[in-house]
Amino acid sequence: MMEVKKVAVLGAGLMGHGIAQVAAQVAKYEVNLRDVKQEFLDNGIKMIKDSLQRFLKKGELSEKEVNETLSRIHLTMDLREAVADADLIIEAVPENVELKKSVYFEVDKFAKEGAIIASNTSSISITELASALHRPEKFCGMHFFNPPQLMKLIEIIRGVKTSDETVNTIVDISKKMGKEPVIVKKDVPGFIVNRVLIPALNEAIYLVWEGVADQEDIDKAIRLGLNWPMGPLTLLDYVGLDTALAVTEVFQRELGDPKYRPCPLLRQMIRAGLLGRKTGKGFYDWTGKK
Ligand code: 3HC
Repeated sequence: MMEVKKVAVLGAGLMGHGIAQVAAQVAKYEVNLRDVKQEFLDNGIKMIKDSLQRFLKKGELSEKEVNETLSRIHLTMDLREAVADADLIIEAVPENVELKKSVYFEVDKFAKEGAIIASNTSSISITELASALHRPEKFCGMHFFNPPQLMKLIEIIRGVKTSDETVNTIVDISKKMGKEPVIVKKDVPGFIVNRVLIPALNEAIYLVWEGVADQEDIDKAIRLGLNWPMGPLTLLDYVGLDTALAVTEVFQRELGDPKYRPCPLLRQMIRAGLLGRKTGKGFYDWTGKK
């Protein structure tokens, strides 16, 4: 198994900032966190600081541990600098095949020969993404759940050419990050969790669209009836409506079954910029809320 000392996380957004934090805070890796704009990095580090403050307030981290975690996270906009000395590169850029492949093209040029590359994709084929690399055997899916600081699961997805050594190394790293890994043996759209979750969320949007119940009641019903910590519409705001649509579209394209048709309301809301918490509004108004 490969020894990992330095991790690069590409993308400081909703998932990337949390992944970088867990790598630095729990596994105590040195982390290069890269994004394409300074404002994205500023926002990412702000979210990390907010989250560390929550752990500090609860007594789960000391002031010293907070400072040490922050000192292990290095921000950069330079992809070469981010990946050149990394043993593991975790890609968490937006859910777009072409964008991800263009990032891999660059990563392949600058990363060390032995470096492992993992994608946090929610749904895109690992085998297809691997095709953009010269080292498909060193590539796999490493799917975190939102918020990565709290959610225990990591899905590790094998592409057709992923080696056992890569999978074993990612299992080991996941455990060092304090997570519970599961191995997805076949590269199928949505893997395990999103295959079940996303159609359920889409169905909840149909209930709103059809006027079956008020959105608050739909959320309440699922919270109390199924013991979900959040109702499906709140959860959609939480993960981002654009991400949910991207996954649904992959299902529609790859699985071909009409049951995966995205609800028209989902598209309408995205067109109106109602993406959820990240834009301030989705099914609910998050402006002014933490
Ligand atoms: N960092 C550190 N602590 C955090 C935090 C963060 N980012 N976010 C929340 N917390 C802490 C809070 O401080 C609070 O601590 P306390 O109970 O000691 O006061 C605790 O977590 C609970 O937070 P809140 O009271 O704000 O809110 P909730 O009780 O609703 O808990 C939650 C938040 C843990 C996110 C919970 O609502 C939950 O589990 N929701 C479901 C999340 C989920 O399903 N995620 C998966 C989404 S699917 C996905 O990611 C896949 C993708 O591919 C689409």
